[in-house]
Amino acid sequence: MVVGGSGDYARKEEKGSPLGKKRLKQSHLAFFFRFTATNMESTPPRCHLLLLRFIHCSPSIAKLLSLDISSSPSRIRISFLMNELEHPRKIMEYQTFFLVLSCLFPLAIFAYIISSRRNSRLPPGPKGFPVIGNLLEFGDKPHQSLAILSKRYGPLMSLKLGSNTTIVISSPDITKEFFNTHDVAFLNRSPPKAIQIGDYHKYSIVWMEAGDQWRKLRRMTKEYMFSVQQLDASELLRREKVQELVKHVNRCCIEEKALNVGACAFTTSLNILSNFMFSIDLAEYGPKSTQQFQDLVLQAMQAGAKPGLPDLFPILHSLDPLELIWSENVYGKKMLAIFDNIINDRLRTRSDGVSTKSNDVLDLLLDQHSSFTQNDMRHLFLTLFMAGTDTTSSTLEWAMSELIRNPEKMKKARLEVDKLMQNNNNRSIQESDISQLTYLQAVIKETMRLHPPAPFLIPRQAIHDVAIHGFIVPKNAQILCNVWAMGRDPNIWSDPEMFMPERFLEVKIDYKGQNFELIPFGAGRRMCPGLNLANRMLHIILASLIHKFDWKVVGNTRPEDIDMGEKYGITLQKAEPLMVIPIKL
Ligand code: HEM
Repeated sequence: MVVGGSGDYARKEEKGSPLGKKRLKQSHLAFFFRFTATNMESTPPRCHLLLLRFIHCSPSIAKLLSLDISSSPSRIRISFLMNELEHPRKIMEYQTFFLVLSCLFPLAIFAYIISSRRNSRLPPGPKGFPVIGNLLEFGDKPHQSLAILSKRYGPLMSLKLGSNTTIVISSPDITKEFFNTHDVAFLNRSPPKAIQIGDYHKYSIVWMEAGDQWRKLRRMTKEYMFSVQQLDASELLRREKVQELVKHVNRCCIEEKALNVGACAFTTSLNILSNFMFSIDLAEYGPKSTQQFQDLVLQAMQAGAKPGLPDLFPILHSLDPLELIWSENVYGKKMLAIFDNIINDRLRTRSDGVSTKSNDVLDLLLDQHSSFTQNDMRHLFLTLFMAGTDTTSSTLEWAMSELIRNPEKMKKARLEVDKLMQNNNNRSIQESDISQLTYLQAVIKETMRLHPPAPFLIPRQAIHDVAIHGFIVPKNAQILCNVWAMGRDPNIWSDPEMFMPERFLEVKIDYKGQNFELIPFGAGRRMCPGLNLANRMLHIILASLIHKFDWKVVGNTRPEDIDMGEKYGITLQKAEPLMVIPIKL
């Protein structure tokens, strides 16, 4: 038996109950082994031997348990550090504790073997740290860090974000497998914790599970809201909003005032959407103090997109104290309250018998009678504002930046618009003109290739285990599709870092979800339903900005020196906003 702190498990001949030897100095673990062996009066069970071997091979665990390990070739010898066991009751507690532990240990080993077998079938990827996984490798520009990692590990790569498995895809072929061949298995999303706390994932078309409600909303957006007929019917209001933008730019021109292109484009997109939905302006070009609704949209998006501890470690979802440090998305709630007021006003005027047929989305939804509840409607509005404003305005800001720093491309694009307008008695630009503006279309495609607003699309989630290219994408894994990396892949594009809209004049590549090398709007059944609206907005706003004005960069910066640095956020923004002074042509 262990005397003076030395215990040898393999010595079966040593027997004797430790319970009576109160003053015997031995470690808790020594006691456990001794006790079990004594009571079983036989060779030690295999699980204990396994446990010993495990401890023996893991100095850090031995240290944690205050054990000093030494070995001999024939048996496992453990030198125990001294611990007092002074009371029989304490001894009993240890007995129970270690007995439970001895039962759990084989289970833990089994789980470990299963999980390492599973992990061995995951796509390749960098080894992560314990607990945090590959968190540090994401950096502040994860689209760039993961593009570099993919060059090493391949276009189908796996990482750990905390305890979450994340699969990163970055080639058109693999993307096609996910969003075409196995589309149904990746229809769900993994909503961030901030979204779940406000229950937005239950009502928002972006985050909800791909069930009946999601299908109903998708049908609604496709067949009614963003159908060609509905978009044609609402064209005039978009033209009006673009003319308001042109007027604002004119004012800046006269005052020789610098203009924040991204902010102006945001106001325009927001008013286009608010008029499309309920025939009112919700944004202004004026000073910051008048831009309350704009701020609310941005803040709500930031709060919703903020990743937190529970996103990295889902096990923490169930811990109550975390809810306390998690501020609910109050901005989202404020927006919902605004939509409630708008809906109630419309309901009131409709019930008063006043003819208010605006043919906007609100009318359309109310005409569906019971099929859409007020809660469905207000959440749909919230989602559309969040999904449709920043994405559109940041694309316009990047497009303008690229054109200003590439004057010969700007000249080409402007010439095309000017020519078309001259042939049409210099009327204002209309959406029906877009099909004839092929160079402008190429400019938008090239901008989306280099600067996709959603560099990872909106992350999907695996509904069940899926075998792809000999690997397993496990159930619940988050799927990031790095469209930013694909846009700059030299195996797909020649001179990928150059802004060359001409490349799209030569090949028939579109961003409507069929050409997997260019999918800024996603692909498959969950791709962006607002594509057609975004497409119209982007072309008429950009055409109007370059048709009537030339642009001078503020300060002494030369156009070619415009800072093109990126800021990763809800969308991929320019780190430095584009500030330019318009000059009337
Ligand atoms: C430049 C503009 C835009 C870009 C680049 C863009 C991009 C995207 C992307 C990448 C997705 C995820 C697709 C996927 O998972 O495969 C998405 C989803 C979505 N977008 Fe857009 N979007 C834009 C404009 C708009 C507009 C104007 C609206 C509506 C007003 C809109 C509404 C939505 C909605 C509702 C979803 C969620 C669809 C679902 O989960 O079923 N987007 N968008």
